[in-house]
Amino acid sequence: MITVGMNYHVIDGKQEVFEAAFNKVIAALEAAPGHDNSHLYVDINDKQSYCIVSQWNDEAAFGAFMRSDEFRAVADWGKEEILDQRPRHQIYGQ
Ligand code: HEM
Repeated sequence: MITVGMNYHVIDGKQEVFEAAFNKVIAALEAAPGHDNSHLYVDINDKQSYCIVSQWNDEAAFGAFMRSDEFRAVADWGKEEILDQRPRHQIYGQ
């Protein structure tokens, strides 16, 4: 099992749009072999600060997701319209 922690900081006022985008990605991942579960958490002391924790039971499937056109489109949109800083991520091994 691979666990990815992604930290996102959202432009104030874009929180709902970001959350809706996350749920769209999740809906797409439901059908993705190798994806186990993903959750979105918000910092109680900073409502613009989110963490995605995403678990995959197949490293190749995770790689394929990261290289997918769909993900690239979401990331590019996110950079341009939603996030006020570059996301930081951490991959936790087995
Ligand atoms: C289940 C949902 C998601 C997962 C598992 C996920 C996972 C990741 C991972 C692992 C990276 C690091 C890529 C790298 O540095 O190589 C990343 C980057 C990024 N993600 Fe997400 N993400 C998700 C949803 C979103 C959403 C909804 C947005 C829209 C705002 C978004 C925007 C971005 C952006 C802008 C980057 C940086 C890309 C870059 O610097 O080129 N992600 N994401």
